[in-house]
Amino acid sequence: MVLPALKSLLKSNRQLLYFLRAWRRWWLLTFKYRFKSVGENFTFTRGIRVVFPDTVVGNDVFIGHDCYLGVQNLRIGNYVQLAPQVAITGGDHRFDIVGTPAVHTGLEAHYKIRTYQKGVTIGDDAWIGYGAIIMDGVTIGEGAIIGAGSVVTRDVPPYTIWVGVPARQLRNRFPSIEDAWEHSRKIEGSFYQQHSAVDAAESK
Ligand SMILES: CC(C)(COP(=O)(O)OP(=O)(O)OC[C@H]1O[C@@H](n2cnc3c(N)ncnc32)[C@H](O)[C@@H]1OP(=O)(O)O)[C@@H](O)C(=O)NCCC(=O)NCCS
Repeated sequence: MVLPALKSLLKSNRQLLYFLRAWRRWWLLTFKYRFKSVGENFTFTRGIRVVFPDTVVGNDVFIGHDCYLGVQNLRIGNYVQLAPQVAITGGDHRFDIVGTPAVHTGLEAHYKIRTYQKGVTIGDDAWIGYGAIIMDGVTIGEGAIIGAGSVVTRDVPPYTIWVGVPARQLRNRFPSIEDAWEHSRKIEGSFYQQHSAVDAAESK
């Protein structure tokens, strides 16, 4: 009874709908997800979990539903897409302390004691496929693509496609390195800037 009435009210009153959406977004970003900072055009859908408040998100980022962002020092660049159910995890329990069960080493986050995590960086324009798992300590290079369901245990170079468990390189994203540089230049990525710096140094 109440729900259909509310739905029809929101249908007829677009301004109220936009206000409620903006309010919900503000509430979620301020009180629930606790990112350190987020850029412009940030899109997130339901059920994401952000464990540490030092997570930094760039511009034009999409985070799909039920993603688990569970490492400290997580840096997500510009134009990054995390498909639904991506997990970024690892380094959260010690299992090498004689006499201490691993479960008792996993409470650091709650008690603000230091954890054992190294952090994860996801470069600009990286696309992480559905259900992929990124382990702590990994850097996903600019423009890299991770296949659905992959488990990434090591650094992924820029503009490469990795798939599988553990993830291995499938191929390069673009047919030539020049295409990757050009793409990076157009999105103002750091890959192109590094290439330009090397070029400048070599031409001296
Ligand atoms: C990684 C991906 C981009 C590769 O696409 P592609 O270049 O068209 O790859 P292909 O379909 O030609 O497959 C090439 C090979 O990789 C394998 N492969 C592709 N995706 C894979 C994956 N996710 N895991 C394991 N192997 C994979 C294929 O089996 C094939 O192997 P083969 O050559 O031995 O037969 C794509 O498969 C993928 O996983 N996309 C993510 C989709 C997604 O999560 N969308 C969510 C919406 S945001």
